[in-house]
Amino acid sequence: MQKSSQSNWLLYCRPGFEQDCAQEALRQAKQQKPIIGAEQPAIVVDSGFVVVALNDQKLSWRELIFTRQLIRLHHSIATLPERDRLTPILNAIAALPGTFSTLWLEVPDTNAGKLLTTFTRRFQPLLENALREQGRLQDDTQNTVRPEPVEGSVRKGKLPRLHIFFPDKNSVLIGTSDPHNSADAIMGIVRQQMPAEAPSRSTMKLAEALEVFMDRSEQTRLLRQGMTAVDLGAAPGGWTWQLVKRGIRVTAIDNGPMKGALINHPLVQHLKQDGFKFAPRKAVDWLVCDMVEKPSKVALLIGEWFAAGWCKHAIFNLKLPMKQRVAALDSALGGIRKRLDEEGINYRLMAKQLYHDREEVTVFLTRTKH
Ligand SMILES: C[S@@+](CC[C@H](N)C(=O)[O-])C[C@H]1O[C@@H](n2cnc3c(N)ncnc32)[C@H](O)[C@@H]1O
Repeated sequence: MQKSSQSNWLLYCRPGFEQDCAQEALRQAKQQKPIIGAEQPAIVVDSGFVVVALNDQKLSWRELIFTRQLIRLHHSIATLPERDRLTPILNAIAALPGTFSTLWLEVPDTNAGKLLTTFTRRFQPLLENALREQGRLQDDTQNTVRPEPVEGSVRKGKLPRLHIFFPDKNSVLIGTSDPHNSADAIMGIVRQQMPAEAPSRSTMKLAEALEVFMDRSEQTRLLRQGMTAVDLGAAPGGWTWQLVKRGIRVTAIDNGPMKGALINHPLVQHLKQDGFKFAPRKAVDWLVCDMVEKPSKVALLIGEWFAAGWCKHAIFNLKLPMKQRVAALDSALGGIRKRLDEEGINYRLMAKQLYHDREEVTVFLTRTKH
């Protein structure tokens, strides 16, 4: 009998969400074909990463909600010699074919991981110089910083990135990512700075969502001065702030108070109403919603808004305090898809647990022409 080949994947996730991350990835793979003869490595809770063993199934980063970064794992070294970590890593890389656009030295997004960054910062130039001398690193359009893409084009390089992931100082996982099927950010984290004038830290969540879900040309097209939006569960105003900053007029719905610059802001109308009962007098471009409610209830509401034609685009959060998060998401997102399909609405939906999301995920939904 022919032996099935095994390919291992390294996935980064928010610490505490390893089960959800692995569950989703294995399901995506099994939907293509059964996984044969691959034993799944143990999941380490709160580690911030998982390894899954597949055959030749493919994983799609865009469709994996809990996966921050998707890496094809080529090599693991369980014990690195303390006196010379470089040589075994270089030897392992020598066995890989081709060249790489970028070298990313990464650590888990945990407190222990943070302590390793002093080491990785010192180690990076040693490894990078050695790889450059060997001609293994080649700059293409994709680099360690996010380049400004030319409007209307996607300036992604073709070469894979090389990831050297240190779960701790003495072991290493070596893999590559496809720039077209992965996050364009080191550790899969699209960091945001807290703007001094914004009224709440959750402003960073919407800022990150806009960057993760839309490329630059889409951001320019879909977020224009003069557009209109409704923000359900708006107080104290972090999401509203992101919209008015872009010249978008916002109706902010919340019984709670708006704060700071958003009180009496010329672009903001604050209505103390129930977000589940509010109906706009005129259709708006955007619906954003951060109300703390059951995912199923928020999903129904979003379906209603699209079915009624009240908005063209939406970004909303689904809060996941429950144990069966993947099931709760399946049911909520499945409900929205079903409703939009029944209404004959064409759409694009993408959901991700963003870096600024805690026990929740963020969803982008937009009407499309076809
Ligand atoms: C997580 S906070 C929103 C934070 C906001 N996105 C920001 O950036 O500042 C959730 C808000 O939803 C509001 N909320 C919860 N249920 C609501 C409802 N049924 N109608 C309107 N607002 C609601 C709460 O009052 C609270 O202010």
